[in-house]
Amino acid sequence: MCGIIGIIGKAEVAPLLMEGLRRLEYRGYDSAGIATLVDGRIERRRAEGKLQNLYDRVTQNPIEGTTGIGHIRWATHGAPIERNAHPIATDRVAIVHNGIIENFAEIKAEMLAQGREFTSDTDTEAVAVLLTSYLEAGASPTEAVAKTLPRLHGIFAMTILFAGYPELLICARRGAPAAIGYGNGKGEMYMGSDALALAMLTQRITYLEEGDWAVLSPTGAQLFDADNRPVERPIKQTALSGAMIGKGNHRHFMHKEIYEQPAVIGDTLSTFVNPATRTVALQDLPFDLAEVSRVTIVACGTSFHSALVAKYWFEKLARISVEVDIASEFRYRAAELPEGGLALFISQSGETADTLAALRYAKSQKQHVAVLVNQPESSMAREADVMLQTLCGPEIGVASTKAFTAQLAVLACFAIAVARARGKIDTQREAELATALAEVPSRIAEVLADEEAIEALGKSLIDARDVLYLGRGTSYPLALEGALKLKELSYIHAEGYAAGEMKHGPIALIDDQMPVIVVAPHDELFEKTASNVQEVLARGGKVIMMSDAAGIAAFPGKTLATIRLPDCDPFVAPILYSIPLQLLAYHTAVHKGTDVDQPRNLAKSVTVE
Ligand code: F6R
Repeated sequence: MCGIIGIIGKAEVAPLLMEGLRRLEYRGYDSAGIATLVDGRIERRRAEGKLQNLYDRVTQNPIEGTTGIGHIRWATHGAPIERNAHPIATDRVAIVHNGIIENFAEIKAEMLAQGREFTSDTDTEAVAVLLTSYLEAGASPTEAVAKTLPRLHGIFAMTILFAGYPELLICARRGAPAAIGYGNGKGEMYMGSDALALAMLTQRITYLEEGDWAVLSPTGAQLFDADNRPVERPIKQTALSGAMIGKGNHRHFMHKEIYEQPAVIGDTLSTFVNPATRTVALQDLPFDLAEVSRVTIVACGTSFHSALVAKYWFEKLARISVEVDIASEFRYRAAELPEGGLALFISQSGETADTLAALRYAKSQKQHVAVLVNQPESSMAREADVMLQTLCGPEIGVASTKAFTAQLAVLACFAIAVARARGKIDTQREAELATALAEVPSRIAEVLADEEAIEALGKSLIDARDVLYLGRGTSYPLALEGALKLKELSYIHAEGYAAGEMKHGPIALIDDQMPVIVVAPHDELFEKTASNVQEVLARGGKVIMMSDAAGIAAFPGKTLATIRLPDCDPFVAPILYSIPLQLLAYHTAVHKGTDVDQPRNLAKSVTVE
């Protein structure tokens, strides 16, 4: 979602704010802005669109000041135009806000009735005007914030700059992440949406807890909880490097991240798979896996697709019943969760609002709460009983790639561990699967070597209006994921379907204009998928088949193209078959000329519901 930063500094603050925003750009790119204090007055520079537009504006019209705030926006209330860009300000305060103030209309009506003016369409302005009303009534900044926060409904991380107070920032957190950073005795203090934004300034971080707010001054921070009682929170040392993450020799972050997959999956698997003993083990858990009788997995988007793959693995291998749901649906359907069940939440960011809310619901239902995240310091990681981690490093491309396959790698290990705990797998099969998993990184490298052929296919898709993806078994969620990648990157309409379900509707779409991408490793379901592909061919559909040597040899029909994957145990096929799906979507988008790393309307970390 939006990204925010605040700095109480000693030198010119604008360049530091801009650098911090560059690190937060993955969170939104509808508009950007900064505000500082110049002679005690609030000065702002804002620009619609990408951060570069703000750079250009600040270069043409520099902004002084040593204390300031910055914002990168993913629009919620109000069109993404300059008037609605943050910081949102009155003459007394400037605010940067990530989240949504649900009762803004009520506050706005109250303020309008007092004759106060509004100049934007944002929900945030209601907070700025309310604070101003308290300040004008004689409250100090701290008193004004203490009165304002309990009046707000919704979720937010925000930082406030006060006219006339050059050494003060106040920040608050409810539902959206916020971290404060300590300036190592330099007389500086920082605030950011995440530790990554502050990594070039400090590694000493305090994460605000739910409902906390903090008063920052050059000498430190005074923290309060939701009831305005002073609290202490630990200062942590983050491992994040201050170096800006680069693209290396790659044209896009997404391409770099696709190529990082052999390494990050190798790193991730090394925590679970012992290649010497050919066994798989999880870390110690605060509950007995053998006692778990039911698993609920909840996630959003691409992470939801990895949950769907896991359902097949858990049910088939560990013979345990698994319920999978989209977080935004799960959280409102009051699911019946028998006490002692395992609830697993999957999220690259660990901050997705719906998934976090679903996690809290599961906790209230006395589930064992486990998370699979890429960000070990995220809200989900901090609130769960157990954290499983993908070791991907930062994923900057907005479309998830390496986090997805690393999630699959961990889920495969998890399924094996549950199967062993439940006595459903023998040592020989476990050894086979451990070996198959250990070989995944080098098999992925083989797939990457085929990029040129996949690029040519991507180019051939750019004029397609719709693309259908088909698969059975674990290839069905992959069909969903392939379609999601194509539509979000290239803006071509794409749908994923269970191959056997096609004849119940989507078959009506098939004609000689319709590319149909089939994910079909030569597994026990291959023959069934092959029959469905024949149905497509009989109606003139243009089939692109992803299979291995045996599958390609066994397929009797005439496809438009084939992408040949290395042979592998069908259990690990979903990890391998993800790679051509990612490359195909990537190259289609590149040839169409869309913005691959920052597709329109999207944001990396969705902290609103
Ligand atoms: C698509 C994509 C999104 C995310 C979704 C959940 O490429 O990246 O669908 O998977 O927003 O995000 P996390 O995993 O951070 O909860």
